[in-house]
Amino acid sequence: MCGIVGYIGFRDAFSVLIKGLHRLEYRGYDSAGIAVIEDGIVGFKKSGKVSDLEKVCEQHIFRSRIGIGHTRWATHGAPIDCNSHPHYSENGKLAIVHNGIIENYHSIKEALLLKGHTFSSDTDTEVLIHLIDEIKTKTNLDLQDAVRAALRKVVGAYAILVLDEDNPGRLIAARKGSPLVIGVGNNEYFVASDATPIAEYTRNIIYLNDNDVACVNYDGLSIVNLNNIVQVPFIHELELQIDILEKGGYPHFMLKEIFEQPRSIRDCMRGRLYPDEGRIALGGIKIYEDFLKKVNRIIIVSCGSSWHAGLVGEYLIEKYARVSVEVEYASEFRYRHPVIDQHDLVIAISQSGETADTLAAIELAKKCGATVFGICNVVGSSIARNTDAGIYTHAGPEIGVASTKAFTAQVTIITMFAFYMAQLKQTISKNHLKEHLAELNLLPELVELCLHCDDKVKKIAEKIKSSNNCIFLGRGSAFPVALEGALKLKEISYIHAEGYPAAEMKHGPIALIDEDMPVVFIATNHSSYEKVISNIQEVKARKGVVIAIVSESDTQVNKIADYIIEIPEISEFLVPTLASIPLQLLAYHIAVSRGCNVDQPRNLAKSVTVE
Ligand code: F6R
Repeated sequence: MCGIVGYIGFRDAFSVLIKGLHRLEYRGYDSAGIAVIEDGIVGFKKSGKVSDLEKVCEQHIFRSRIGIGHTRWATHGAPIDCNSHPHYSENGKLAIVHNGIIENYHSIKEALLLKGHTFSSDTDTEVLIHLIDEIKTKTNLDLQDAVRAALRKVVGAYAILVLDEDNPGRLIAARKGSPLVIGVGNNEYFVASDATPIAEYTRNIIYLNDNDVACVNYDGLSIVNLNNIVQVPFIHELELQIDILEKGGYPHFMLKEIFEQPRSIRDCMRGRLYPDEGRIALGGIKIYEDFLKKVNRIIIVSCGSSWHAGLVGEYLIEKYARVSVEVEYASEFRYRHPVIDQHDLVIAISQSGETADTLAAIELAKKCGATVFGICNVVGSSIARNTDAGIYTHAGPEIGVASTKAFTAQVTIITMFAFYMAQLKQTISKNHLKEHLAELNLLPELVELCLHCDDKVKKIAEKIKSSNNCIFLGRGSAFPVALEGALKLKEISYIHAEGYPAAEMKHGPIALIDEDMPVVFIATNHSSYEKVISNIQEVKARKGVVIAIVSESDTQVNKIADYIIEIPEISEFLVPTLASIPLQLLAYHIAVSRGCNVDQPRNLAKSVTVE
């Protein structure tokens, strides 16, 4: 949650910071602020969007080469001006922006109150900058050491940037549990929560590690850890392409990302799928092949849409590789004393690679001796770096808060992993595997075909946009797709939606069905086709409005459903990916027609780095 950005160099710092905040706005959009050093520190902050902050800054003529900025997703304190970042020391000489939570802020605050400090916000962050100031003033420590000393007293997660008007050529950056990257340019440095504000200036990136405290000057940088041991930075080359961070003519990032899926799925399979040889190669986990041949329990941990991708994995891995799979919400797993040991494989799925609960679940699994793999989208993210091995989804940056292309990339990876395991364990015949991989290889083209339903889906969206509730039903591996369809709809259109296994409908949800209830079925002609048709009949008998996703060759559902959306004729293992496409479009068009901000839905943020 929250995005932070910093700059030191020869450019106009204000412009770099504002542009950076726009790039980071998907991480939080309750309020925003900046601070730069001119003769002294000059700061502005405002509840609302980055564009609201820009209006507040309009009257000021900026002339600074160093500064910090923040876009907020509120945790401690309501999203009002005084709780927005930056926060300042009492004398106004120090400024801080922070992403994360200082868990022991209350006790630190009490101690500082006793020393006479007064506070002007309800935030944990303000407490931290007062603590840094207290230490710096009382001990005469240099700025980097004072920050280090303060952070040693802190329990919690943070990525921070600190400015000091007495040290106008320095930016201090530190992280623990929240991401922070430094972009190294020619005589200029950029620091940000992720690489999106940096990509247009430099391809040289340093990922800070937990406990790193960096001092960035105009002409160089040095990094120590909390114990003052010098850390040698490693410069990575950034692959991120700038055009992917723009809307490219689409009205919203979400729509752009939905239409990007043929490309993102192709990128995700590139170098991994060899249909002619009937073989999958997953380079990132290759050295674990012997372990994988023996493993007989896999636990998938994740949250939200990534959890739905994990559920798809449960169906496919068990079916094709005959290995038992459990799928857990990371937030529950971490606290429920799970029984796991060194024989188990734990797979963490995460788009951002920064989700706090998923990170904690990984730590627990590692402590218990399990081997831990990550399936992440963001390269160099904390989850990617804290797991034993992994598979990147390569979907490219996802800016829309509702996951679309990252979800289908996760499903594609987990599908490849299921076949990879089946190949290793020889639970599938060579011919069968070859046939399936040949079909998997066509997935980008099939998704392309699916996207042709856009106009039709838009018309259906118009018909049901005023509903207050909606039910999504599917069976087998289409059940997680129903969950995902419901999540997409509720998060961006604020319509209450529930996903259920179709057969479970009779155990409660059927009571909700009347002429005002749209029910979306995934009713392709696969293993449960006849049974799903019976479920549709049950809904129709109660006057529910049925929208059904069907196979092109469907002959039965189209006679009873109110609306049908056809997807190409495919094997069942491809249904989760293909059926997701019309559901994403349905949620998108309903939300747009209700006037909702689809890229930045209320109360949500892209990356949940707090518990
Ligand atoms: C829904 C959505 C969220 C995320 C969840 C996990 O559209 O995006 O439910 O899937 O917050 O995030 P990651 O995958 O980054 O761990």
